[in-house]
This record gives sequence, C-alpha cells and structure tokens, in this order.
Amino acid sequence: MQVPEPGLPAEVTIYEVGPRDGLQNEQTIVPLEVKAEFVRRLVAAGLPIVEATSFVHPKWVPQLADAADLMTELGEAGREHPVLVPNERGLDRALELGCKHIAIFGSATETFAQRNLNRSLDEQFAMFEPTVRRAREAGLDVRAYVSMCFGDPWEGDVPIDQVVSVGKRLFDLGASQLSLGDTIGVGTTGHVTALLDGFNAAGLADDVLAMHFHDTYGQALANAAAALRHGVTTFDASAGGLGGCPYAESATGNLATEDLVWMLHGLGIRTGVDLAALVETSVWMAGRLGRPSPSRVVTALG
Ligand code: HMG
Ligand code: MG
Repeated sequence: MQVPEPGLPAEVTIYEVGPRDGLQNEQTIVPLEVKAEFVRRLVAAGLPIVEATSFVHPKWVPQLADAADLMTELGEAGREHPVLVPNERGLDRALELGCKHIAIFGSATETFAQRNLNRSLDEQFAMFEPTVRRAREAGLDVRAYVSMCFGDPWEGDVPIDQVVSVGKRLFDLGASQLSLGDTIGVGTTGHVTALLDGFNAAGLADDVLAMHFHDTYGQALANAAAALRHGVTTFDASAGGLGGCPYAESATGNLATEDLVWMLHGLGIRTGVDLAALVETSVWMAGRLGRPSPSRVVTALG
C-alpha cells in the first residue's frame, strides 16, 4: 500500500453501524440468528467497532425489539459492541446484559427531537443527563450522536451555531466522542468544513468528533473525504450501504463501508478491514434481505 499524502492520517477508525442503523429501517424483521451472524462476520472482516443494536422502546423500533436476545446470543464478545440507549430504562436493560459501551442520540432540531424521542429539544437533555451520569458511574464508555446536523426534513436549514450548541451540550454530559449525523444526507463538502470549524471554535477538536453520513444525495463519500482532510479520523459507515432512520422522512442508507474502505485504502490509509471479506458479508446480507446492495464497490467486487 502507498504512503498517505502529507497531512492525511496513517490510520482511520471505522465505526460500523450496519446491524443497528442498517437493520432498524428494514421493512421486515431480520431473524435473530441472521443478525448475530452479520455482527460476527463484520468483526471477522476486521471492523474494529460494530454497533450491534438499540435498547429503545420496542414499539418505536420493532426491528430491534430483540436487542436483549441478540446481546445474549453474542455472549461475552457482545459486551464490547456499542448499543444505542435513549434513557435510563434503556440503560438498565444494557447494564443487565453487561454492555460496556452505550451511545445516546440527541437531535439538533426541535421537530426531530419530538418525532424521534417524544421530547422537546430541551427535554432531551433531562432524559440524557441521568442516563450518562449513571452510565459513567458504572464505568461505561458513552458516545453521543447529534442528528440533523446538515438539514432537517421539516425545518429545512439548520444553523451551524444551533448544531454546535446542541452537540457541545450532549458531549459535555460526559461523552468521549460526538458523532455528527447527516441524517437525511443533504450535506455538501463546504458545509462539512464549516461545521467542523464551528465545533473546533467551540473547543471540540477533530479527534473527539466522528462523522455519520447518509448517502441520500450521493454526497456521503465526498463529505467523508472533506472531513478526513479537515482532520477527522473516525467515520461511521454501514456495510453494503444499509440504513436510514424510521423517524426521519427521506433518510436513505448510510455511507457504505465498502465505499469508504476503497477510498481510504486507495489513499494508503489503514483501516484493518479485509475488503473482500466485507463485500462477501454484504452480498450474503443482501441475499437475506432479498435485494442488492446499493454500494458501488459491492456491485463492482461482489
Ligand atoms: P416515550 O413513549 O416518551 O417513553 O418514548 P416514556 O419515557 O414515556 O415511557 C413509556 C413506556 O415506555 C414506559 O413503560 C417505559 O418503561 C417504556 P410503562 O411504564 O408505560 O409500561 N420505555 C422503554 N421500554 C424499553 N426500552 C426503553 C424504554 N423507554 C421507555 N428504552 C423513547 C421515549 C425515547 C423511549 C422513544 O421515543 C424511543 O424509543 N425512541 C427511539 C427512536 C429510535 O430508535 N430512532 C432511531 C435511532 S436514532 C438514528 O437513527 C439517528 C442516528 O443514526 C444518527 C443520524 O443518522 O443522525 C443515530
Ligand atoms: Mg443514522
């Protein structure tokens, strides 16, 4: 592999969200054993972090209602996989199963806070504060997501100051990383740079930030390249480009992990991922879901 260009990192961490962001949006409910095999195959393909599921209300996301069973099925190794937790009830469920990494997920906009969390923008902090405090007291690592960072289907443009203010508040609750979500995939490269500049000015450096792109407008990979050149070294992605949020109109799949890996390896940046094994996993998963992967790299190599 070539040496990365000056200014680019030697290594990038891919935070795989396929089993969670990918499967939460499927029409059909994927059987437990398929989910477990998906997670295991992703680990075997070298993905260093694989978010497994969500301890949310099962009526809100029936696709992941089997979260506890999945974690039990994954056994000891399952405890290392991050899980989404919106509140103390979710935390209790995660603690019972020995989970070590949780992720809270806030909204930069009022409308999405209401629709996704049944809380106002301000009320979401009252829900997250005791959740994060208790998680930290129990020795858990906490990631925070902030959604609708680049636009909201109901509110349109979202001011950078508003995103930075919400994101910083979420991070300051006690998170080790803040993932900036382009939930509906409307962002473009200049916006990425401006948003990162905004967070840096507020004291959050690129090394505590991760980018979470959805690919609705085909901009996800370009946006990842812009964030990489800015200094971000953690990227969320979903095997085969699965994904979307059931509570966000027009959200389609995440940035495909294969597309990201192809770009990073082409730049001489290490990921630890075995691309052939990953493509094989996405082709296998597409077979289980009954439709081809939207990823260009999966199509080319699969
Ligand atoms: P709520 O209805 O307001 O809940 O939902 P509540 O606090 O009023 O409680 C009502 C009942 O639900 C109670 O039961 C609770 O125990 C129970 P009762 O006492 O009536 O019998 N309950 C729960 N049960 C199981 N697990 C729980 C839980 N919490 C309460 N965790 C809530 C509020 C937050 C729970 C709900 O809105 C919810 O589950 N939302 C999750 C939505 C979601 O998962 N969206 C997708 C993930 S976010 C995303 O995809 C974006 C991201 O990818 C980044 C990006 O792309 O931008 C991360
Ligand atoms: Mg998402």
